[in-house]
Order: sequence, then C-alpha cells, then structure tokens
Amino acid sequence: MIPPTQAGGPDIAAHPALDIPEDASVDVSSVLQESQIMEVLQKLDQELVGLKSVKTRIHEIAALLLVDKMRRSLGLAARPPSLHMSFTGPPGTGKTTVAMRMATILHRLSYVRKGHLVAVTRDDLVGQYIGHTAPKTKEVLKRAMGGVLFIDEAYYLYRQENERDYGQEAIEILLQVMENQREDLVVILAGYKDRMETFFQSNPGISSRIAHHLDFPDYALDELLAIAQLMLAEYMYRFSPEAQEAFEAYLKRRMHMPRFANARSVRNAIDRVRLRQANRLFAKGGRISKTDLMTIEAEDILASRVFSEEMTDDEPQRDSITQHQPS
Ligand SMILES: Nc1ncnc2c1ncn2[C@@H]1O[C@H](COP(=O)(O)OP(=O)(O)O)[C@@H](O)[C@H]1O
Ligand SMILES: [Mg+2]
Repeated sequence: MIPPTQAGGPDIAAHPALDIPEDASVDVSSVLQESQIMEVLQKLDQELVGLKSVKTRIHEIAALLLVDKMRRSLGLAARPPSLHMSFTGPPGTGKTTVAMRMATILHRLSYVRKGHLVAVTRDDLVGQYIGHTAPKTKEVLKRAMGGVLFIDEAYYLYRQENERDYGQEAIEILLQVMENQREDLVVILAGYKDRMETFFQSNPGISSRIAHHLDFPDYALDELLAIAQLMLAEYMYRFSPEAQEAFEAYLKRRMHMPRFANARSVRNAIDRVRLRQANRLFAKGGRISKTDLMTIEAEDILASRVFSEEMTDDEPQRDSITQHQPS
C-alpha cells in the first residue's frame, strides 16, 4: 500500500534516499556508456574550431548533469539544476550550432525528453494586435517543450520606448515557464553581448533565471581558415596551394568589410567559390578529372568582388533581409 502523502509536509517514509545505504556506489563508466555522452562531447571538440571557453563550460554542464543522474540513481533526489543560458556574440560565431549540440547533450543526459531545438525571433512570439501575443508565445513554448527554445536577438522582445509594447507580455509568459517548467525546457537567449547586457539590466527577472552565460567571440584569421578547411572537407573539395594563399588574402580583406559574419561569411564565400569553379570547369570543356572536380584554384577566389577596388562586400543580396532570422 502506498502511504498517503501529507500535503505541505515532507513524507519521510517515501523518501528513497533513506533506503539506500551511504556506502552504495555507482559506476561512472557505465553511466557514461549508457548516455553515450562522450561521443557527443568529442564531436563538439573536433567539429567546431576554437570556442575554447564555450567547450569548457559545456563539459562542466555535462559533468553536473552526470553527477545529478548518479545522485538520482542512488536516491538523492533533488530538483534538477536550472539550465537556462545566454549565448552572446556577433553573427556567425556558432551560437545556433552550439545550441543544437546542447539540445542533444541535454537529451542524452535525460535532462529533456526530446532534445530538439526550436529557434525563434521576436516575430514568432509577439503579435501585432491586442490578444495575439499570449497564444503565439504559448504555441511556441508548446512546440519547444522537451527541448531547447532558442530566442535569437532576444533584446528585441523588450522595447523601452514603448511601455505598451506586446513584447512585455511575451516576456512575462516566458518568465513563468522558465521558472515552473524548467525541468523540461531550456531557454537560450542569444544576441550581441552589449545589447543583451542592457536587456538583462532592464529585465532582472529574466537575468536572475539565467544560470550560464556563454560568450562567443569573433574568430581570429587562423580560426576562420581552419573553419574553411573543415567546410571544404565536408563538401569533398580542397584548395590548391595557390588557392589556399588566395583564400587567406580574401579573408584578410573580407574581415574588415561591412556585414562580415565570421563563419557564416566563410560558408557563403565557399559557396560562391564552388560556383566559380564549376563555371571554370564548364568553360574548359573536354575531359575533367576527379582531381579537377575536387580542386579549388586561386582564380576561383581572386575573381571575387572583394579584390576589386571599391570596398564592397561579397555576401549574397538576401543577407540584408535575412540577417535577423535564425540560421
Ligand atoms: N567554430 C566553428 N567551427 C566550424 N564551423 C562553424 C563554427 N562556428 C560556426 N560555424 C559554422 O558557421 C555557420 C554559422 O554558424 P551559426 O551557428 O549559425 O552562427 P550564429 O548562430 O552565431 O550566427 C554554420 O554553418 C556553422 O556550421
Ligand atoms: Mg544564429
């Protein structure tokens, strides 16, 4: 028979910690094996260039959750730690990518049920008319339950100049869920560091519920080059030695031009380089070898607008429209 639980008071008889002797133990390697967490952490370390402090923090969070799992298996039930986070940094520094991996990690460690990522911006949460915001926000929260809700450029939710802005309504609903349903939903707020700090200052309720602040700095030139190599390998291409030099020259210029977006600009640049390579091969005609198909030559890079006299960037036009979209 299950003894009735006294509302309000602790039910000592039902507390499992008291049944398990203190010298009971749990095997760390079997917990690791079972969750297959090491594999995800290794992939994170290998497949993402740089981001040292981000990686360290993720390892720490994984350790915390592993210990939590072991504690639970020995009856040391406690409320799971709060894991809402902020990811700050300029565009293209890996925030969305890391958020997706975080969702997988949280799932493997049984923190969330499903481990998916729902990426949204203000427009997905806030309505245009009175009464539209609450249903919109709740619908998004419902979709995100059991996973990670990633709110890109979260500071747009708060408009100081307009005190009747519907964003405030979305913030209040979010706050409640962040507090009450934190066992099954992790909220990650992302955006530029300075704007995010201002947002936190104006919204202490949100700020106090963020357990981890992770900063994603601009990549250095050598990191951008390493990212380019990773992307080329992923697509099964490679630079000729001259192309390698040309790409370095390209990045040195591109980095200081408008709308430079770190690794995203690298990916865009490689896409356009592939286009030029294809045109070159097509124009050449005749027989084309496997090596030809794989190799990017310097001319495929040097034809970029970035090398022409005026300081014009080399991003596809749609970038100006989509820059507030999660990607
Ligand atoms: N450290 C990294 N190593 C390899 N690729 C990266 C890295 N950071 C970002 N990328 C790639 O760059 C692109 C943009 O990254 P994303 O996560 O969307 O940046 P953000 O969300 O910060 O704007 C993605 O294609 C991603 O795979
Ligand atoms: Mg993003």
